[in-house]
Amino acid sequence: MILKLSESNFKHAIARAFIQCRTKTLALFEGIDEATFYRQAHPDFSPVGWHLGHIAYTESLWLLERSAGLPCMFPQYRKLFAADGLPKRDRVKLPKLQEIRYYLDTVREKVLDYLEVANLETQEPLCHFLIQHESQHSEIITFLLEICKLEDREIGRTKGGENSPLHPNPAVSRPEGVYTPSPHHLEEMIQIPAGEFEMGNNSANALDNERPAHLVYLDTYQIDRYPVTCGQYRTFMTAGGYENSQWWSAAGWKWLQTEKVTQPLYWHDDPVWDNHPVCGVSWYEAEAYARFVGKRLPTEAEWEKAASWDAKVNRRRIYPWGDEEPTSKHCNYDTNIGKTTAVDTYPSGQSAYGLYDTLGNVWEWTATWFDRYEGFQYYPYIGYSQVYFDHQHRVLKGGSWATRPWALRCSFRNWYHPGVRQILAGFRCAL
Ligand code: AVJ
Ligand code: FE
Repeated sequence: MILKLSESNFKHAIARAFIQCRTKTLALFEGIDEATFYRQAHPDFSPVGWHLGHIAYTESLWLLERSAGLPCMFPQYRKLFAADGLPKRDRVKLPKLQEIRYYLDTVREKVLDYLEVANLETQEPLCHFLIQHESQHSEIITFLLEICKLEDREIGRTKGGENSPLHPNPAVSRPEGVYTPSPHHLEEMIQIPAGEFEMGNNSANALDNERPAHLVYLDTYQIDRYPVTCGQYRTFMTAGGYENSQWWSAAGWKWLQTEKVTQPLYWHDDPVWDNHPVCGVSWYEAEAYARFVGKRLPTEAEWEKAASWDAKVNRRRIYPWGDEEPTSKHCNYDTNIGKTTAVDTYPSGQSAYGLYDTLGNVWEWTATWFDRYEGFQYYPYIGYSQVYFDHQHRVLKGGSWATRPWALRCSFRNWYHPGVRQILAGFRCAL
C-alpha cells in the first residue's frame, strides 16, 4: 500500500512536469503572427512553428509507439516532424498553429493516460528525456523569436537609414571615453585547488551524455568569478579585436573572414548593459577574447568542478548553491525575466567556490570537444548525443535566461558547432 501510494505520487510529479513544461512552451506562441510562425529565422535552424510539431512527434514516437505499442496516430506528420525527415528549409510548409496544437493536445492526452498504467521503473528515464527534449526546443523557439525581433529592427533601421545591428558599418568608430571602465570586482578570478572531483551524473533524470559519473583529477587552476561582461568585451572591440588576426586561431580567423561580424549577435552598446554578460558570441570570438586578455577558455571539467564541487564535504552538488531546485533567487532562467541580468545579481546562486552566474543568464562555451564519457551508452537513440561525438562541436555549460528548469543543472551538457552564435551563449575565462 505504501509502495503503491508513493508510486502514484511519483507519477503525479512526472505528469505535473509534463504539464508545466507545456504551459510555457505554448505561451511563447501567444500573440505570434502567422509570418513569424512560419519564419525560418536562420538557415541552421528550423522554422519557429516546426519545433512545436516536432515536440509532439517525438513524444508520440517514444512514449505512444515505442513504449505503449500504440499505432502512429498522425502518420501524415511523420516525414515533416521527424528529426531526420526533411531538410530544414523544406520545413516551412507547416500546418496551421491550430492544427499543430490539436496534434500536441491529442498526443498529450494519450500520454497522460499511458502514464497511469506505465511501469515507471522502465519508463521514467524516457519521461525525463521527453520533458528535457521539449525544454530544449522551447529554448530554441525563444532565441529564434529573439532573432526575428533583431531582424525586424534591422529592417526598420535600414529604412530609417541608420546603422544596422546585424551589419554595422565598421567604419563608424566607437566613441572612446564615454564608457566607464568595467568595475574592478567583476575581473576577479578564483583559485581552485588541485584534486579529484566527481563529474557527470547517474540520476534518473540525467541524459545519456552525462553518464556515467566519474572521478576526474585537475591541477590547480584559476577561473573567472563572473562571466565576461559587455563592458569587458568592449575593450576587445575598441582595441580592434575583430580586425587583428593576432588574437584569433587559424580556424577562428578563417571563420571571421567568411562571417564578417564586428560585434556579438545580441550586442548592446548602451552602457546600462555593461555589467550584463556578453551574449551571442561564437566559440571563436570567445577564444579570441580570452587570448586578448591573456587567458584561455576553461575545459568542461574545470567549469563543472568550479560550479558543482563542494570540497568541504567531498561531494558534488546538483546546482551551484546545493541540491534545492532553482528559484528566482538563485539565477536568471526559464524566461522569467526575458533577457540577461547583471552578472552579480544572484549572490544566493554562488557555487561552493564562490562563482556567480554559472547556471542561467548565458550558456558558457568551454574549450572541450563534445565527446563520450568512458562507459557511455546511448539513450534513447544514437542521434541524440552519439552522432555529435565527432570533434566538430564544443561543449557549453550552465544554461541561459531562456533555459527551462528541467535542463538546468551543473552536469548538463549542451553542444554546438564553434561558429554558431544564435544560441544565448557567452563565456568565462580560466588561467
Ligand atoms: C543539445 C541543443 C544541441 O537542438 O540539436 C533536440 C537538443 N536534440 N532534439 C539540438 C536536441 C534533439 C540539441 N542540442
Ligand atoms: Fe528534437
